[in-house]
Amino acid sequence: MRVSRRALLTGAGGIALGSVLPSHPSFANTEIKEYCLTATPGVANLTEDGYPNTAVWAYDGTVPGPEIRVRQGDPVRIVVTNKLGEDTTVHWHGIRLPNRMDGVPGLTQPPIRPGESFTYEFTPPDAGTFWYHPHANTLQQLGRGLAGTLIVEERAPIAVDRDLTWLIEDWRLDDDGRIAPGFGNRMEAGMSGRIGNTVTINGRLLDRVSVKPGERLRLRLVNAMLARILGLRFADHRPVVVAYDGQPCDPHPLEDDRLVLGPGMRADLILDMVGTPGRSYAVIDDFYRDLAYKLVDLAYDSVRATRERPPDAPPILPANPLPEPDLAAAARHEVALQGGMMGGMRIMGMGMMGSGAVAWAMSGMSMTGDGQPKMPPLLTLKQGQSAVLDLRNETAWWHPMHLHGHSFRVISRNGKPTTRKEWRDTVLVPPRESTEIAFVADNPGDWMFHCHVTDHQETGMMATLRIS
Ligand code: C2O
Ligand code: CU
Repeated sequence: MRVSRRALLTGAGGIALGSVLPSHPSFANTEIKEYCLTATPGVANLTEDGYPNTAVWAYDGTVPGPEIRVRQGDPVRIVVTNKLGEDTTVHWHGIRLPNRMDGVPGLTQPPIRPGESFTYEFTPPDAGTFWYHPHANTLQQLGRGLAGTLIVEERAPIAVDRDLTWLIEDWRLDDDGRIAPGFGNRMEAGMSGRIGNTVTINGRLLDRVSVKPGERLRLRLVNAMLARILGLRFADHRPVVVAYDGQPCDPHPLEDDRLVLGPGMRADLILDMVGTPGRSYAVIDDFYRDLAYKLVDLAYDSVRATRERPPDAPPILPANPLPEPDLAAAARHEVALQGGMMGGMRIMGMGMMGSGAVAWAMSGMSMTGDGQPKMPPLLTLKQGQSAVLDLRNETAWWHPMHLHGHSFRVISRNGKPTTRKEWRDTVLVPPRESTEIAFVADNPGDWMFHCHVTDHQETGMMATLRIS
């Protein structure tokens, strides 16, 4: 029998939903939304008209891949077909899903061979801004264009005039518009990683984005780059952060007027267009001192504002059903981030696994590549246990550390409690600093925990946590 969702939601059968359904918001729904994605070589016009096109690898041949939009609590099925000349997988970055759907080759699934398909199925428990990318030969596959946004909509829409996504990528192009070779260059691997020379928004090097005076935007920013960290400033505007990595936070203005987003990280901003009609306002990225550049101009239409002044308070996103870690009872572990240039590269003779160059380590272990069968876990946690990981960056470089299958609270920086204890799935740890994260190890399986600077991950800054 087919039960309509409406009947279920209104409890027509007289059953109190909360008592029969598990703790996740299960908005029972019998319809599965289905998508097909094909990883394939393609051609993209990344720069301006009149300039040469670029040969890329892309989902459905478009850069970025198609936006996947589902509703919180609705099941989704995504059939991924591999038309590349090499193995691939897809990782649904930030989604708390079953381990076998996590897309790590060797660890959670066999790689998808050329010509073959794999069906991913999961029900996103959290609303927010997520993204997807390969977890096989990631340096090349992500670096050549395989990435897309995965938006999980709130059950009730948020009051904004426009919902805008900027998936930001960078590319190292030569004069003929080709992607420059040299992926995995040793020198770069031990330093900042491969940083491109062309930064695109949704696959285009943009001059301007048109906005309307008075409108309120929800701007979803995704750093889908291999290595570049963004530090965005919005001239004469006051964006309000309402979520990090898909997880709602207390709405607050940017710290030091700048939004810092490392690779893999996202933020949702509420941006009220309070500028003057007809004028343009720059969005500047000045994360790397001396290398500041204009990402894009917000260009106002010259029409008068439809609204006299923007609505007052920014909307507060409904909380996601995240389990609250019990700090008093938590298991505590230190995780040292080691290696790299200027870090002495003192990682010889430590535990190593995988092939290829080694430049980094986590607590003395260097796992290289994108995932492997039988990786010995760095840590083992009991399912349901609260955990605090103290990430100690002993290197001279920044590391956006990403944990699969969970979101965590960032509870302290250099021993000082953070003010917001925000939820994230990727946390940027500055050189020689420490950061504590806390979460409930509620999702069983072997989960990746790695730096999202892809060169760092592939040359040793990768580990697994076992939850059983
Ligand atoms: Cu977005 Cu293991 O990565
Ligand atoms: Cu790193």
